[in-house]
Amino acid sequence: MLFARFDCGALDFCRRSMRRKDKMMKQECIMVYNLRDFDERPYFEEYTGEYGLSMVTTTETPTLENAALAQGCRYVNIITTPADRPLLEALYQQGTRYIVTRTIGYDHIDLEAAKELGIRVANTPYGPDGVAEYTILLMLMCLRNMTSIRHRYLGQDFTLKGLIGRELSQMTVGVIGTGRIGTRLISMLTGFGCRILAYAPHPNAEAKKHAEYVSLETLYRESDLITLHAPANAETTHMINEDALAQMKNGVILVNTGRGALIDTAALLHGLDTGKVGGAGLDVIEEESDLYYYDRREELLHHRDMALLNSYPNVVVTHHMAFYTRQCVETMVRDSVRGIVADIQGLKNPWRVC
Ligand code: NAI
Repeated sequence: MLFARFDCGALDFCRRSMRRKDKMMKQECIMVYNLRDFDERPYFEEYTGEYGLSMVTTTETPTLENAALAQGCRYVNIITTPADRPLLEALYQQGTRYIVTRTIGYDHIDLEAAKELGIRVANTPYGPDGVAEYTILLMLMCLRNMTSIRHRYLGQDFTLKGLIGRELSQMTVGVIGTGRIGTRLISMLTGFGCRILAYAPHPNAEAKKHAEYVSLETLYRESDLITLHAPANAETTHMINEDALAQMKNGVILVNTGRGALIDTAALLHGLDTGKVGGAGLDVIEEESDLYYYDRREELLHHRDMALLNSYPNVVVTHHMAFYTRQCVETMVRDSVRGIVADIQGLKNPWRVC
């Protein structure tokens, strides 16, 4: 009897607490910036609906001018556009106390400013397969001269001269950064039969099964193809510079699906001019954020480096697309919402970065 009474009490407590949480959820509003109607909206509706949250949305990038859209929203959801101190201050004034970026990288958010203001920050580390597969796509496009092949084909030039490719199986591939994406890439690369070298400040056991961890100097010296999977931060910015390139093999192929800041573009352009760099596959470049994901067809672009990079027959540039699969988009929306739910409920939030 006592047990039954206790049980009922516990149930009542649970119900009361669920009702309190439901109420808490309904009062919470997420301000979603850069919402894409054509792929993200259905997932946002599904997951905010599941948790009874409301949202305000805009297709615009957050700026000082439109920070007021977030008025009364403790939760703000963004993508890779810069969230610097002035913007964070403006959002804070509107009531924002938590920002989630529906991306893995969070180098576009001023974490110091966020900490000082008392804004919690989270990211959404979706599965690594999409980016790892895309990295292999860029590697193969470089090795098989795909930029030139497409240009020739579209111009009805069906000749072969100058298009001879190389096989990945014969190469030494250097992987810089062996976190989730680098490690997944390494395991995928085993299928190609290449030699794999790796460098990261904290080697991990999974990557070690298939790759040989070496110093950065050895990786530069011995790799035919180098692929970058480190985050952008003060230490990694321009890690691929004149000095690093000088240590690499002549004709080295560089692939970057990490962040544009990892490569000093001026040094890369010089390397392409001299033949030091034999090809590059770049899903990310410096100063991309004002351009990417907008339709700029009618505009004169003031990005000279991008124009130059696109002029090389041995370079493939894409507009930060490696993440863009159905699986990744659903996960980034879902986990951006779930992190918010955890925050509202005072539960451990696995996506918090500060
Ligand atoms: P992660 O945090 O799991 O791994 C990062 C790795 O970089 C770790 O092994 C870490 O030890 C290593 N690292 C840190 N400092 C380093 C340094 N100074 N030198 C060499 N390695 C260093 O991150 P994850 O999920 O593997 O993502 C890697 C990067 O890929 C992200 O930071 C993001 O910038 C980028 N990314 C790009 C996407 C795209 O669409 N192009 C999509 C998703 C992520």
